[in-house]
Amino acid sequence: MAESMKGWTRTCRCAELGEADVGRTVTLMGWCHKQRDLGGLVFLTLRDRSGEIQLVADEASPAAAREAAARVRSEFVVAAQGTVVLRKAPNPNMPTGAIEVRLEAVRILGESETPPFYIEENVQANEPLRLKHRYLDLRRPDMQRRIMFRHRVAKLARDYFDGQGFLEIETPVLTKSTPEGARDYLVPSRVQNGKFYALPQSPQLFKQLLMLAGYDRYMQIVRCFRDEDLRADRQPEFTQIDLEMAFVDVDDVIAVNEGFLARTFKELLDVDLPMPLPRMAWAEAMRRYGSDKPDLRFGMELVDVSDIAEKSAFRVFADAVANGGSVRLVCAKGASGMSRKEIDALGEFVKTYRAKGLAWLALEDEPRGSVAKALSPEEIRTIASRAGAEKGDVLFFVADRDKVVFDALGQLRCELARRLGLIRPGDWKLLWVTEFPLLEYDEEDKRWVAMHHPFTSPMEEDLALMETDPGAVRARAYDIVLNGTELGGGSIRIHDPELQRRMFRLIGLTEEQAQRRFGFLLDAFRYGTPPHGGLAYGFDRLVMKLSGSEDIRDVIAFPKVQTAACLMTDAPSDVDPKQLRELGIRLAGEGEA
Ligand code: AMO
Ligand code: AMP
Repeated sequence: MAESMKGWTRTCRCAELGEADVGRTVTLMGWCHKQRDLGGLVFLTLRDRSGEIQLVADEASPAAAREAAARVRSEFVVAAQGTVVLRKAPNPNMPTGAIEVRLEAVRILGESETPPFYIEENVQANEPLRLKHRYLDLRRPDMQRRIMFRHRVAKLARDYFDGQGFLEIETPVLTKSTPEGARDYLVPSRVQNGKFYALPQSPQLFKQLLMLAGYDRYMQIVRCFRDEDLRADRQPEFTQIDLEMAFVDVDDVIAVNEGFLARTFKELLDVDLPMPLPRMAWAEAMRRYGSDKPDLRFGMELVDVSDIAEKSAFRVFADAVANGGSVRLVCAKGASGMSRKEIDALGEFVKTYRAKGLAWLALEDEPRGSVAKALSPEEIRTIASRAGAEKGDVLFFVADRDKVVFDALGQLRCELARRLGLIRPGDWKLLWVTEFPLLEYDEEDKRWVAMHHPFTSPMEEDLALMETDPGAVRARAYDIVLNGTELGGGSIRIHDPELQRRMFRLIGLTEEQAQRRFGFLLDAFRYGTPPHGGLAYGFDRLVMKLSGSEDIRDVIAFPKVQTAACLMTDAPSDVDPKQLRELGIRLAGEGEA
């Protein structure tokens, strides 16, 4: 039977005790990790969010305490009173291993059924089972450490930005669609049947309006919603550290954020980041790393061999260049020991990035590989020398449109680094990627779309190209990249209504469409808009990276799975037909009745 605390007050957490506390009488409350009953002697390991401590009931303990301790099972909630003593046999593997608590009284505050999996560090239980019982999964020490770490990052962000004069201001969750390139989650209105709110993909327009309203520095730790395909670093609802500043240019936004990053890394990881962080223009990042979020922890840069390929008798290469594409390679140092099976697997890997094939060449006394015969010895020599390749290296080529070549080789580069063990643990490589293209061409829709969002300002020097060569216009946009992951991104915004209209025209919005969707912003801009810009971090991603995890679900208390479902609550779920009627909604497939 569960007892109440009956006046007991917890004196401290389990692992807050140490040798200095020997002789102290304490009251602890927590969960029983393990119970061992050796007859006259009962050992309990008590766990709370600070860690564990051993409790012991022996002949010196009152009989009632011994009996209660004997009834305790794993995951029972226990209140224990006793004296801190030195352990006869210290346990060096336990932070509190030098001491134990000799029990004087024990109360069982809550009983537990046998949990569906063992509550322990690095549990082996499968993820669906863990997520179904997330409350138990969250009880595990490694999960608790990450969730508590997340709190510390949030606290540090609030403190830092407060110190820099930022105000935390909330923005609506029931709102109008804000374009960040994903699908919206819609919420039907009961009061106005047939109308919908959109959950914000970000607070983008609101934070811009706050600048116009005179608040000049805004920050918010805020939930965003995007209906897009999930990945290891993506969730349908996720959290941003969202910022906006008035009267700033790119350098001002970057400076404030470098301060934040320096402090975060120093205080949380004791890492001194070299400041200022390096910056790289988007075009250079693509050319050298095939990615707008280059991982700088290793080299293996892309090498362009289009000029050689163009003249080659090997059709796959020559045709790719003739069709306006390119042929590029990465050189895997000392990889010629790779098996055929491994190389074939890499071929399959690049196909997921739409490459048609992966040509390879192992440099040995006699070059070997899928294009060893197709290329002439002279071509192989020139290519190898340009790539700085030596005997024992393997060259991997992709021939295609630039977009495909960059994507496939950019990803292959990272995959090779993982396989070849080129990544040193504890290496933190941050950089700003700048000068993104303002627009990208949407092949499906046959029109230009904003690469970031349509409120991003073009670079002054490229304004004249907007109508003549839209693809060449660069934006005043920047991303912060950590070890190959996009941590955050932002831009200086358009604050001139005429330029904003021009931008909308470029992406094919008619005056009328622009007014309908963003009329409130265009109207607002007529009333004195300061130059402004900002940035948003993916907060979950930041915490994930800082805590050394590779899965965003590790740092979210109640995450969703691939199908955007919550396995614990079973959301999304059916709703009462009455609710649908009130909303004026009839599901497709239902009769007319
Ligand atoms: P952006 O769309 O680049 O910019 O988002 C900012 C950062 O949010 C993170 N992020 C995500 N994290 C987890 N799951 C997702 N589905 C997800 N989508 C994005 C990324 C990304 O860098 N309003 C602009 C910011 C600005 O211009 O100020 C915006 O939202 O780490
Ligand atoms: P094939 O002449 O079709 O047998 O191709 C010879 C090699 O070129 C094979 O290893 C293919 O995987 C590779 N290959 C085919 N298409 C491409 C491409 N677009 N880019 C790079 N390699 C390719």
